[in-house]
Amino acid sequence: MHSIPLGVVAGLLSVAALTHAAKPPPSSANQQRIGAGRLIYQQYCASCHGAKGEGKPGWQQRDAQGELPPPPHGPEGHTWKHADGMLYRIIRDGWRDPFNKTKRQTMPAYGQTLAPGEIRAVITYLKTLWTPEQRRIQREESRRQPFPPEAQ
Ligand code: HEC
Repeated sequence: MHSIPLGVVAGLLSVAALTHAAKPPPSSANQQRIGAGRLIYQQYCASCHGAKGEGKPGWQQRDAQGELPPPPHGPEGHTWKHADGMLYRIIRDGWRDPFNKTKRQTMPAYGQTLAPGEIRAVITYLKTLWTPEQRRIQREESRRQPFPPEAQ
């Protein structure tokens, strides 16, 4: 094995540190997404899912029309059980519970209203409503089903 002079290693490390410093840290991109996502949520989602993502009262049971009401997005709901790719699809294409008595798309499709980056931003905001453990599990799941290329 060749030994690398220590000076070279130190030099490489400082170059790495400089390139890293030139880019904004990843957390700042995330903070921007959260801010944008919160505004999108308030404008498009809060009327059904609640100002704080609390869902409609009685969300666990079908209503008089036989439809499941908008669920909460926080720890008590199941939003966190879906990987990024699935959440993206639900918001882009809309959704209805297959056992609803109506055929109506109760969760509207936003693919014509929101750009891919905006859908990703609103999902990034929803993640702030989860517990650290839920975020960890969802991050694992999302490795198998990540955001589609248009939202990368
Ligand atoms: C007109 C009311 C309405 C609006 C507005 C609405 N939703 Fe929904 N959403 C629903 C309903 C109803 C469901 C549950 C559908 C079902 O399972 O039958 C749902 C389900 C979901 C789910 C799946 C949750 C889960 O636990 O599986 C996500 C994620 C979601 N909505 C996100 C959003 C986002 C983000 C917005 C805004 C861009 C939004 N919704 C706007 C009614 C709405």
